[in-house]
Amino acid sequence: MKTFGYFDDKNREYVITDPATPFPWINYLGNEDFFGLISNTGGGYDFYKDAKFRRITRYRYNGVPMDAGGRYFYIREEAPLSPPEGGTIDPSAKTIEAPSGAVGGAPACIWSPGWKPCKTALDSYECRHGMNYTRITGSKNGVEASVLFFVPLKTWAEVQKLTLTNKSGETKRLKLFSFTEWCLWNAATDMENFQRNWSTGEVEIEKAPLSPPEGGTIDPSASKTIEAPSGAVGGATTIYHKTEYKERRNHYAYYALTNAEAQGFDTDRESFIGLYSDFSNPQCVMAGKPSNSVAHGWSPIASHYVEVELQPGESKDFIFVLGYAENEQEKKFETQASLSSPEGKAPLSSPEGDTIDPSASKTIEAPSGAVGGALLTSLGSLDRTIINKEKAHAVIARFSTVEAVDAAFEELCQMWDGLLSKFTVESGNERLDRMVNIWNQYQCMITFCFSRSASFFESGVGRGMGFRDSNQDLVGFVHQIPSRARQRIIDIASTQFPDGGCYHQYQPLTKRGNNDIGGGFNDDPCWLIFGTVAYIKETGDFSILDEMVPFDNQPGTEVTLFEHLRISFDHVVNNLGPHALPLIGRADWNDCLNLNCFSWDPNESFQTTENNSEGSKAESLMIAGLFVLTGKQYVELCRELGKRSDGAAAYAKANGEGSDGAAAYTEEADRAQGCIDAMVEVVKKHGWDGEWYLRAYDFYGNKIGSKECEEGKIFIESQGFCTMAGIGLEDGMVDKALDSCKKYLDCEHGMVLNNPAFTRYYVEMGEISSYPAGYKENAGIFCHNNPWVIIGETVARRGNDAWEHYTKICPAWIKDQQLHKVEPYVYCQMVAGKDAAKPGEGKNSWLTGTAAWNWLTVTQYILGIRPTFDGLEIDPCIPSTLTEYKVHRVLRDAEFEIMVKNPDGKESGVTSITLDGKTVERDRAIPATPGKHTVEVIM
Ligand code: BGC
Ligand code: NOJ
Repeated sequence: MKTFGYFDDKNREYVITDPATPFPWINYLGNEDFFGLISNTGGGYDFYKDAKFRRITRYRYNGVPMDAGGRYFYIREEAPLSPPEGGTIDPSAKTIEAPSGAVGGAPACIWSPGWKPCKTALDSYECRHGMNYTRITGSKNGVEASVLFFVPLKTWAEVQKLTLTNKSGETKRLKLFSFTEWCLWNAATDMENFQRNWSTGEVEIEKAPLSPPEGGTIDPSASKTIEAPSGAVGGATTIYHKTEYKERRNHYAYYALTNAEAQGFDTDRESFIGLYSDFSNPQCVMAGKPSNSVAHGWSPIASHYVEVELQPGESKDFIFVLGYAENEQEKKFETQASLSSPEGKAPLSSPEGDTIDPSASKTIEAPSGAVGGALLTSLGSLDRTIINKEKAHAVIARFSTVEAVDAAFEELCQMWDGLLSKFTVESGNERLDRMVNIWNQYQCMITFCFSRSASFFESGVGRGMGFRDSNQDLVGFVHQIPSRARQRIIDIASTQFPDGGCYHQYQPLTKRGNNDIGGGFNDDPCWLIFGTVAYIKETGDFSILDEMVPFDNQPGTEVTLFEHLRISFDHVVNNLGPHALPLIGRADWNDCLNLNCFSWDPNESFQTTENNSEGSKAESLMIAGLFVLTGKQYVELCRELGKRSDGAAAYAKANGEGSDGAAAYTEEADRAQGCIDAMVEVVKKHGWDGEWYLRAYDFYGNKIGSKECEEGKIFIESQGFCTMAGIGLEDGMVDKALDSCKKYLDCEHGMVLNNPAFTRYYVEMGEISSYPAGYKENAGIFCHNNPWVIIGETVARRGNDAWEHYTKICPAWIKDQQLHKVEPYVYCQMVAGKDAAKPGEGKNSWLTGTAAWNWLTVTQYILGIRPTFDGLEIDPCIPSTLTEYKVHRVLRDAEFEIMVKNPDGKESGVTSITLDGKTVERDRAIPATPGKHTVEVIM
């Protein structure tokens, strides 16, 4: 079976060996403010914080060919008169004009290290996707080009280190062109409002003069940064993108070559590429020289042109920095003081041996660092057309030497060493170890940062941070950087309404609820309990509950976070339907089960259209299960707060002197438990179909997900949530429901969402029935909800079944990469189900709650290492063939080496536990006492 790459676990990389993957296989750069998406051929884009409002580089979704736009390098080698010694000239190389301008007898060779965009056949190619970095290496005719892409920690820039090595026996003369295309900030309007866009583009070009340190000379190979009088790095060529940089907009982007001199540049797309060429054959590259173009409107780009000579065996590094900066209002523009010249005009100087094109005069560097030929205003005043570049200069200076770049890269790798050392497993099964130790954790960081906003399936303009999505994502991430999870919880809770309902999404840049989509998704509030409790169990930080958090971001409305949890719980209690089951509202977890939408208008979006919930009887069994599950967590939290003196004290502080915190929490726990018990009874009575849990009742009160239904007789969500919540465990309901999942939902690639698939549109169900059978929410394998059933299997103590389901959707077990199509190192949202035209074909890779849920499943429920309020609970539920495994777990200030032994080949059940050599009670949590501990568990 054809493969396109392999795992290199030692380096924590996935190595792609064939650039023509079945779909672009991408990676993510950056993990805090500045982000990039990068495909295995260099495609993708960057943005700052918000993929919609601060898009830095342009990308064409759904282009032809796929994955058009990115950070591209073109290498041009003029054809030798005769083939290199012992070699031949590759006829697949592009034929172009000879240097003389005549049609050459022998073609120049033009190629890209990532194969694309030139697509010249390479002699070798490799792409290594690692933890927040990507290294792409290609070689052609004895020259190797290797580019390392990463975003240094705490930096608003992507660094690209290109290393050119001459592996041949002869001198190589190369022409190197860099390329990136600017986006006009708002990624949505950038794609549509051309009557405006094509007039707004503006750039600046800065070539900082080289000025030798006093009394010294400039050694171009020197690793030390040379300062130009302007404050820029001497010799650096920087192209600034400043569209709309006026009083209203305070940010700009830049692309700099920091450690070598560029002999030219381009900033206007059509001048560089040509209206009738494309990314694969830009006219400047084909002609072998830049046009030094200055963009005025149209499509601004940034391209450097560098001439490189390499002796046999020689290697040279070129550092490019693609960055973003924001200026304070009063420091936005350049003060002209330092730029004055005797004539009051910046002198023009032309690139050696070249002439100045008068139409490009503004782009020619003046020795002073000013824009050549520009009229200067009087001394000390501001030029409101020129950016104050201090911030860019500082970043460029930081990354102007190879040593500095390598050190920053090392720092990034060390951060990942730290993040990935909090939970590691040695199980003897390399696939399991690789998922747990590397890729599942890495994907959790990515989903935490991006929610569902920007991937190769999410355009970054449609969705902000989801309320339910982000709460789930943080559960997979909280052990990595708890402080960031804490802030996320506060941000999410701040978008809640006083009745417990909430905005379904918010924008990361403003942190405000998104009005386009609004609220009314009745599962959303429960997820806040889910996220917050996971945070407290990981950190032991109960103080988060005392944080004062507003409603809908309105100052003055603050209540404690605990109060937000209480109203979240009550939002379900206050919104029950005719069977006393939770009303669904616009939708529950399944955004496409739109029971109150009734859309007949094909121009309407199911997701944003007005719903008619008036008089609706639509109830959700998924929310019922979710309520019981998260409600139990809420009760457990209240009981814990009642026991803790700080919990009681915080209550007293919030409720006035004399109030008895301990009693109040216990009372609240009892009240909540009453609601949960009632819900359990209702589910047993009105939510059971005989062999499985019903899915819902529709607007009219008819059953959904019942054997009485024509199609969609069984749904996975309610099986997952009701089994996880253990509803009817003692009556055999859990086992029966799990058996039904196997019988009706399971197939070779995982469990489908519903069965049988809908084959026609049902107006009373909405979007779910708009999908073809086997895809997405209509009987696709929605990987996100497979782990719910897997956890259900562990509740039923069926370790072998849990394991079988787990390995079916786990990337490390993918057999047919061609069929699976998307990245084989991360989970995807959906794999085409058994009713689809192509079962097994994956889609929507990367940004899916599957990552967090499978992390939870494998670490806490299969391996069974589960944080509690006091410490760790150990409760494995594993395949009987797993005879032993070792887990290293850092929890708060405690570090545990846990050895689990399964001598009798059991699936679950612990016989004995010893902590630091002493026997402890089996069902007591192991306290997170600071320091190192060894734990031995015998099953
Ligand atoms: C998709 C869902 C998604 C929703 C909101 C639907 O078209 O099928 O998976 O959650 O849109 O964007
Ligand atoms: C994707 C959404 O991000 C998630 O919130 C939703 O639950 C699933 N689609 C299912 O519709």
